[in-house]
Amino acid sequence: EKGGFDHFMLKEIFEQPRSIKDTFRGRLSADLNDIHLGGLYSVLPRLVEAKRIILIGCGTSWHAALLGEYLIEELARIPVEVEYASEFRYRNPVIYPDDVVIAISQSGETADTLAAIKLAKSRGAMVLGICNVVGSSIPRETHAGVYTHAGPEIGVASTKAFTAQVTVLTMIAILLGKHRKTVTNELATTLINELGSIPAKIERILESNSKIEAIARLFKDSTNFLYLGRGYFFPVALEGALKLKEISYIHAEGYPAAEMKHGPIALIDDKMPVVVIAAKDSSYDKVVSNIQEVKARKGIVIAIVSEGDTTIKGMADYTIEIPEVHETMEGLLAVVPLQLLSYHIALMRGCNVDQPRNLAKSVTVE
Ligand code: M6R
Repeated sequence: EKGGFDHFMLKEIFEQPRSIKDTFRGRLSADLNDIHLGGLYSVLPRLVEAKRIILIGCGTSWHAALLGEYLIEELARIPVEVEYASEFRYRNPVIYPDDVVIAISQSGETADTLAAIKLAKSRGAMVLGICNVVGSSIPRETHAGVYTHAGPEIGVASTKAFTAQVTVLTMIAILLGKHRKTVTNELATTLINELGSIPAKIERILESNSKIEAIARLFKDSTNFLYLGRGYFFPVALEGALKLKEISYIHAEGYPAAEMKHGPIALIDDKMPVVVIAAKDSSYDKVVSNIQEVKARKGIVIAIVSEGDTTIKGMADYTIEIPEVHETMEGLLAVVPLQLLSYHIALMRGCNVDQPRNLAKSVTVE
């Protein structure tokens, strides 16, 4: 059942080229100029006209929502808010009838997310779901939605469900952008092509598995980790830190790289591993300066860089390469080495990777 892998988590990490393909299969048009999301047909006019989109979720699904905010605002120019379902449901939020709420959940059973959906519906908003488990409670409670088709995820640490959620959010952003004319036909073709290239690029990243394992060995006894990233890499930094915390029990924090100097920089010394997601994108130069700031305080830098990067290789202590792709999709690639890093560290520490202590696969109590 683990398909020759030692753990479900590793199997699910390695499944990502296929699970992402399954998630976009039949949804990208052959001429690479359109997106088809059957589950949204009936609600598309209202979605395209939405004054605001509110994305809700918990844990890793909340991280996918953050990426969704950046994607939808960039490509479709609709204001997006992201909220933890647990906060949304209890703080009497302002919800207008022309808001669209999108709930993101792998299991479709998370209690807080379900309650947040009921609240939004009671205030007249249209509520959509992005879920993995077919026929679960959230798809039944929402007006419409899109399944992620990642296949069953058994490991408590979410991996392939996350990349499938981000794949769906990318497709929604392109679809809305096309309808709102904020994405030209030419850009749509580029983006759809790039999305199609993701599975093969993840295959390439998976080839670095033993290199990542070797880096893991060096840091398995660390007590703290910092993860830094800007733009699309900020949610990825949060996700990398969460993966490490939940399965290896090492304290880790994710931050927008520029926030470092507003506090966390005080933590940096020669024992602090700092994972910086520094692949080539529009904030590359800024992140290079952030790496210099970490090095000036003797922090140990593990950088995720674009293939062929030489600038950061000269500065960082360790580098892991990822292929280049359109900036809006870089998060889908950058998260994979972080999943592997946490997997190997947890394993070397003797932790139960698939069933970490105190955690359940679906959190059906609030
Ligand atoms: O099933 P859901 O996506 O609603 O679950 C949300 C979180 O409980 C979940 O993502 C959790 O944070 C994972 N264990 C993270 O790996």
